[in-house]
Amino acid sequence: MIEQIAPARGIHGVVSVPGDKSISHRYAMLTSIAQGDSQIYNYSTGADCRSTLSCMAALGISHSFSEEDGRPVLTVHGRGIAGLQAPKQTLDAGNSGSTIRMLSGILAAQPFTVAITGDESLVKRPMRRIMKPLGEMGARIAATDGHFPPITIHGSPLRGIDYELPVASAQVKSCLLLAGLYASGETVVREPVATRDHSEIALRELGADVSVTARVIRVRGGAQLTGKTLVVPGDLSSAAFFIVAALIRGESDLIVTNVGLNPTRTALLDVLRGMGAQIKLLHLEQVNGELIGNLQIKTSRMRGGTIDGATTAAVIDEIPILAILGAVSEDGLTVRDAAELRVKETDRIEAIAANLRRMGVAVTASEDGLQIPGKQQFRAAKIDSYGDHRIAMAFSIAALASNGSCEIEDAEAASVSFPEFYTTLRNICR
Ligand code: S3P
Repeated sequence: MIEQIAPARGIHGVVSVPGDKSISHRYAMLTSIAQGDSQIYNYSTGADCRSTLSCMAALGISHSFSEEDGRPVLTVHGRGIAGLQAPKQTLDAGNSGSTIRMLSGILAAQPFTVAITGDESLVKRPMRRIMKPLGEMGARIAATDGHFPPITIHGSPLRGIDYELPVASAQVKSCLLLAGLYASGETVVREPVATRDHSEIALRELGADVSVTARVIRVRGGAQLTGKTLVVPGDLSSAAFFIVAALIRGESDLIVTNVGLNPTRTALLDVLRGMGAQIKLLHLEQVNGELIGNLQIKTSRMRGGTIDGATTAAVIDEIPILAILGAVSEDGLTVRDAAELRVKETDRIEAIAANLRRMGVAVTASEDGLQIPGKQQFRAAKIDSYGDHRIAMAFSIAALASNGSCEIEDAEAASVSFPEFYTTLRNICR
């Protein structure tokens, strides 16, 4: 599908975004292995989170959607920590790295063998990062060329380990914490830099024995989790596209409601404010241990700057949209320490650089970063999404600031995290 996006003068209105993708995955997995029913409000509408639900269904956990005051509610019929059943077929994680990596932690401990694979992007993504520590816990996992999906997991009794993550990754951390629920003794995960802590919060919320001190997370095996009512905050990484659109288009005034503001996710707002963004917090509350709030964003003079070190890890999903902002900022944007971008849904360094060049921006790409000049006027172009949701959405925002209409090829990739993206965008563009 090709989306035609015309330039826009400004961004106005009040929007909400789908439920947070990271939190939705965790709630679906954890309520499946909790005892009893859980009601989940605002579960992500994206294809990735549907993949997690269909994997759980193949493992014997049924779910249903109903409506309450016009809002969809997901009910997951959890069967307890030992309630999963051997699936009849290979599990399909679709495009979702979170599904395959986190679910593997649970599968490693089951009394059966299971294979899990995904789409043409997922089968190119590295799995050794989970296979190595899970192997140390006693798991037996085979992968294509020792590294890639499909992976086959022969469930085994696990023992707790003390593991220092070599790469900052919330997916790997979460995988090990989930495995730790089934392991004997204590599982300890040490992070080089803090990553999103939704798993720690959700585990505690459902009754697991978890403790966190200074980037050291401990979980004790053997606890029973209990189902409950959960609310998923809106996804700040999805809101990021509209936030940047409002910042860079003239005379914009946008309100984003009910968006997740967990401090391990808000480095984006700190980076933007550091570059000159006017972003106001209008309301803040805590639900299920997660912060949720409303934000008001107004057009701002953006300076640009450098993103590196721990900040890069904290805004890794937002680099595509920050790159767009960088090109129209005063000083441009330098991104360093971002080698992880090369193993996302596509090689995002390559995808960002190639599409920026199509729009007339002389960007320099390196092995682990990008150098993007500022004060650029985007040229109308055909954009290749590379089948990556965040590339499709980031360059749709670039199109709003270009000198003519742009075509986004493979635009439907956006539905991996945000099926309503183009409709919402059209509603707020003036
Ligand atoms: C995620 C962690 C990050 C992020 C991904 C979602 C999660 O991946 O890029 O979109 O939900 O834990 P890594 O763990 O590979 O850094």
